[in-house]
Amino acid sequence: MLRIFLTVSVLFWNQLAAQDALDEVIELCDQEDCLKAAVIIQDKNYDEAELEYRQWVQTDVDAVDIKSALPIGLDKLFSYARCGNVAGTVIPLAASWGVVGYLKNGKIQQRFSVFVLIVPEVINPPEPTDPAVTLQTGPPVWFYVRVFDKKVDEQQTEELVIQLLKDLEQDDQPFNSTFFDITYLNTEGLMEIGFMKTGE
Ligand SMILES: *[C@@H]1O[C@H](CO)[C@@H](O)[C@H](O)[C@H]1NC(C)=O
Repeated sequence: MLRIFLTVSVLFWNQLAAQDALDEVIELCDQEDCLKAAVIIQDKNYDEAELEYRQWVQTDVDAVDIKSALPIGLDKLFSYARCGNVAGTVIPLAASWGVVGYLKNGKIQQRFSVFVLIVPEVINPPEPTDPAVTLQTGPPVWFYVRVFDKKVDEQQTEELVIQLLKDLEQDDQPFNSTFFDITYLNTEGLMEIGFMKTGE
């Protein structure tokens, strides 16, 4: 599932509309642990980013929408980080969290995977005690991403997802249209929406 972390940090050069958001991401990731993109290619009005190897915890949530899925999922993931693991220890989390959503016939399904990145310094993080929470790792992978820096409501978020989907389809890009990723970098609306590139 979910390999998705658009915590793409060092990216989006010259992309005027997104430049402020990008600056914010870069600044944030200088101070905090963010996953860095290994390579970024500026494309049309989105970017292609190769995400580095990363590790995270995730949990699946059935919920009507993203807004309601996030707190349910994050609650379990923060419990994991606060000693809810077989080592009974505190696990340092990275600055970003997010959600993977699934699409069917262009419609967002009421099933989500909520995730939080674990900082790379933690080698072999302990297993969760909650069976609904799983540890994951992902190899480097390419995503098409778009960055935003304004608070948006649920409806606008869904529209942004569908807009990126349509733009990628229109441009005939090779991507997996069955799921999307939203990575949040702060509570002020700084986020990245992405779809995974296929066939590389
Ligand atoms: C798209 O992603 C889904 C979920 O991970 C996977 O089952 C499917 O095989 C992928 N499709 C393509 C074309 O890569």
